Amino acid sequence: MSHPVLAENRETAELDYMALDKVIEEDFNNDKENLIMILQEIQRRYNYLPSPALTYLATSIGVPLSQIYGVATFYSTFSLEPRGRNIISVCLGTACHVRGGEKIREKLEGSLNIKDGETTEDMRFTLESVRCIGCCSLGPVIKVNEDMHGRIAYTEVDMILEKYE
Ligand code: FES
Repeated sequence: MSHPVLAENRETAELDYMALDKVIEEDFNNDKENLIMILQEIQRRYNYLPSPALTYLATSIGVPLSQIYGVATFYSTFSLEPRGRNIISVCLGTACHVRGGEKIREKLEGSLNIKDGETTEDMRFTLESVRCIGCCSLGPVIKVNEDMHGRIAYTEVDMILEKYE
C-alpha cells in the first residue's frame, strides 16, 4: 500500500509538469487563495515539497517564492526534505503513551534502524512521532500513510512493516 508517486526518481524529484499543471490549473483554478490546498496536494503526491515544484507554483499563481516558502515552513505538516514512500506516524500522546507507545517507537526505530524524524536509506519509510491522531481508545496507535493500526503490540510491528513496499 505504497503512497502514490509521480516522480520516477524520488531523490532528484523529476517533476511531472503536466500533473502539476492539472493540480494548479484544473483542480485549484490557478488561484493563489488555494495556496495551502495546492501545497497539500503536491506533498500528498511526493510526500514532500520539491523545490522545483515550488518555483513552478510561484510563477503559475503569481505569488513570490519567498511567500510560498513562508507558508511551507510555517506549517509543521509540510516537509521541504525528501521523505520515504511510506510515512509512519507513531502516536506518543497521553493515551497511547500510557499504553506503551514509547515501546512501539523504540521497536520501530530498532527495526528500521533510524531515529524519530529520519528516513531509511532506501527511502522506504519515514518515522515521525505525533501527539494524538484522534483515536485514543485504540492506543497504542500507529498510522502508516492513511492506514490506522490500533491496539498493537511491539511484537506485531515487523509484520505491519512488511505490508508496505
Ligand atoms: S493519544 Fe494516541 S491517538 Fe490520541
